[in-house]
Amino acid sequence: MEAAKIIELPKFEDLRGNLSFIEEMNHVPFKIERAYWIYDVPGGEVRGGHAFKEQQELIVALSGSFDVLIDNGIDTQIFSLNRSYHGLYVPAGLWRQMKNFSTNSLAFVLSSTKYDKNDYIYNYSEFLNLKKP
Ligand code: TYD
Repeated sequence: MEAAKIIELPKFEDLRGNLSFIEEMNHVPFKIERAYWIYDVPGGEVRGGHAFKEQQELIVALSGSFDVLIDNGIDTQIFSLNRSYHGLYVPAGLWRQMKNFSTNSLAFVLSSTKYDKNDYIYNYSEFLNLKKP
């Protein structure tokens, strides 16, 4: 099973300000079908808490910081995102939660699919069942 991993994005440092970018099939291993972002998260709130059957994604903390908890049904990993030139690549089939959002944080997500509510697994027991060999 493929694991989630941090992808280091290009960073052009400049006295006028830095610049980073993402190209599909290059910095992300998929064709980008959708972008969405999560913002104005009240302190202590948790987002996510589900898995995707097909959707792969890249999550970037464009501003501020938050933690992404990734669970493959056996192990759990926590990725703390706080750099706008780091993307967390999340392959399909992993349970994920986003929490500990700092004030004014901005979570930017690139997705390999259009929004499809049938791609979500919201039930953790169902997720674990699907992971069984
Ligand atoms: P959801 O993915 O469940 O949010 P989270 O996992 O962060 O808790 O999405 C919340 C709502 O937004 C849900 O009712 C569906 C809608 N939505 C769209 O319509 N399009 C999208 O691309 C996304 C990500 C969500």
